[in-house]
Amino acid sequence: MRLSKPTQALAYLFISTALAVPVEPAKYPTHDLPIFDCKPPVYKERLPTYSLGHALQFPEDTLQAIISEAAGGAKMNEREDDVGRYWYSGETLVGRFDKTTNETVVLPDLPYLKPGHIKLNEDLLRKLRGHPAIIASDKTVSSIVIGSRLDGSRQHFLGTEPSRPASYLLEGIIQRAIPYGAGTHPVCGGSSGSQAVFSFDVNGNIRGLRHAWKPASNQNTFLRPLTPDQIQARITEELVAAGLGSRRAVVRHIDLCFYDSGAARIQPVFRFNATISTVLGGPATALIVGYIPASEKGALEPLPNITTPDAGDLPKPDFPQTNPPGFNNTHPPNTTALLAPLPGPSRRDNGAITLGRYLMNGDGLSTTFIEEANGLWSGLHSTSSRFVNAQYYWDDPHVYDAWAYYYVNNVHVAFSDGHGSPHSFLTNGGLPGAGEVTISSDLYTKGFGASATTGGKLAYWILGECSVIPAPIDYPAGQGHLAFDPWWKVFNGGIRAAVGYRDLAYTNPPKWNEVGKTLGHGASVVHGFMSTMLPTGKTSAITRCGRDGDNIYQVSGLSKPDCLTIWWYN
Ligand SMILES: *[C@@H]1O[C@H](CO)[C@@H](O)[C@H](O)[C@H]1NC(C)=O
Ligand SMILES: *[C@@H]1O[C@H](CO)[C@@H](O)[C@H](O)[C@H]1NC(C)=O
Ligand SMILES: *[C@@H]1O[C@H](CO)[C@@H](O)[C@H](O)[C@H]1NC(C)=O
Ligand SMILES: *[C@@H]1O[C@H](CO)[C@@H](O)[C@H](O)[C@H]1NC(C)=O
Ligand SMILES: *[C@@H]1O[C@H](CO)[C@@H](O)[C@H](O)[C@H]1NC(C)=O
Repeated sequence: MRLSKPTQALAYLFISTALAVPVEPAKYPTHDLPIFDCKPPVYKERLPTYSLGHALQFPEDTLQAIISEAAGGAKMNEREDDVGRYWYSGETLVGRFDKTTNETVVLPDLPYLKPGHIKLNEDLLRKLRGHPAIIASDKTVSSIVIGSRLDGSRQHFLGTEPSRPASYLLEGIIQRAIPYGAGTHPVCGGSSGSQAVFSFDVNGNIRGLRHAWKPASNQNTFLRPLTPDQIQARITEELVAAGLGSRRAVVRHIDLCFYDSGAARIQPVFRFNATISTVLGGPATALIVGYIPASEKGALEPLPNITTPDAGDLPKPDFPQTNPPGFNNTHPPNTTALLAPLPGPSRRDNGAITLGRYLMNGDGLSTTFIEEANGLWSGLHSTSSRFVNAQYYWDDPHVYDAWAYYYVNNVHVAFSDGHGSPHSFLTNGGLPGAGEVTISSDLYTKGFGASATTGGKLAYWILGECSVIPAPIDYPAGQGHLAFDPWWKVFNGGIRAAVGYRDLAYTNPPKWNEVGKTLGHGASVVHGFMSTMLPTGKTSAITRCGRDGDNIYQVSGLSKPDCLTIWWYN
């Protein structure tokens, strides 16, 4: 979904590598073959498989202690329904336990975090690792690794240097692995499976947590690994089947890992990642990760597909109306009375939270964008009937320009998805320049939000595209303000936050479903998004100062901001 800088020299290198490593030329026309920029690994020894037991349940006393720390000592309210337990600080979700899976998530209350130099509390991590209800003692092994760091910075006036970046959280991860051959290989998984991630604050206390773990036992099946030629052929097949076989796909890395579905098994797989370019030899505009079964026996449990070429039975977006009923096409709308009714319950219904989704059309990954958009909507919808699927369109620059009054600024929550680069994204591969929209020159001049001057509604903008929200550290010293400056125009309209990525990120529809659920349960939009999507890329967010803890139900209009905050993961 994401753009990086063009690298001519590298493009050359990939092509020559591809010529050196032909892949079953008889089977596919050459233009349908991906390029391999790496060699498949060689393994000979038979591979172990594991079966999984019941999910561990994170110990209640430790959980309660972590939740009250995460809320900064504020008073907690607990709610419960058939599928889970939920802990709130005020109206913001801080903790969630899923009764159907035994997964536990704790999110920090961002406004309570203090900046400073953060180190992992290794004593505490070792103690947690030794707890049999947190990490099962079995034939798998685990090690403590340093994860991502959450930083933040503020800017008070457009064009001025923002505050020095400060650190707020640091992740300590207990990484599961499988002994094989001379070493160990990581347990991997797309969106489920074992995980134990703890976020530490400046005082060495745990403020965030993500836990799911099932004890594993060896099965008596030992699988013969695929040969390097077979691995390359299978990856080629998978990319071709996904419509991504062309030379625009470059496979960057292949490794052996053990896929944990979170269901019944841990099975050996070859994991690969690939960059996709919109133009042959052009910059990478997307990242994907895929898994192929490690032996000829095939998958012991279904593995995620890269994409479903026709997006299955999922509802497809409509084409945006360039001349919606009741409008004079030459005049963008500016009064509510003119608006055509939105689908679903009236947007004026008390308490309805309207969602608009805008997806890049005319692209090899457009079906993946459909899957992601449906994941987000079904996640939100599963938590509350207050959500209204108000708009679902193929994207277009008009969604954001003076016509935003009808589109993006006519809903409370907007989701856009496609390819992106710093402060810019593509809306439609079929339009000149792929319908590029630049923040802020291509946006409605009065900004987005529910302020009196725009008369709009937007409170949160979720950007699924890569790299659109760079951090001050992504610019040379002394130019950190460039990360903030274009956003003032947007925030002057009264919007509360925009969330997205500061770098390339992977597509992952199940994760978007999880974001929908997390936000629907009332997590901070900023950190609910940033921590849930972190496994797919370096997430970031820009928010009005002091609005980092707001949840998706807080949508009323705000005046012009006097300060903006950027949060980012490293
Ligand atoms: C969750 O934990 C409980 C208590 O240990 C156990 O009975 C149940 O089977 C677990 N759930 C799953 C999905 O494994
Ligand atoms: C592909 O995976 C490898 C190993 O995990 C990683 O080092 C590399 O950065 C990934 N490539 C991209 C483009 O993300
Ligand atoms: C992936 O695609 C194959 C073939 O279409 C299908 O049989 C399999 O169930 C799919 N896997 C998942 C996880 O949907
Ligand atoms: C739209 O407005 C312009 C300028 O007022 C006018 O010339 C044109 O006829 C109008 N078009 C329609 C379809 O009403
Ligand atoms: C609203 O639209 C009308 C007709 O299109 C136009 O004359 C007027 O200037 C617009 N008002 C604002 C505040 O943009």
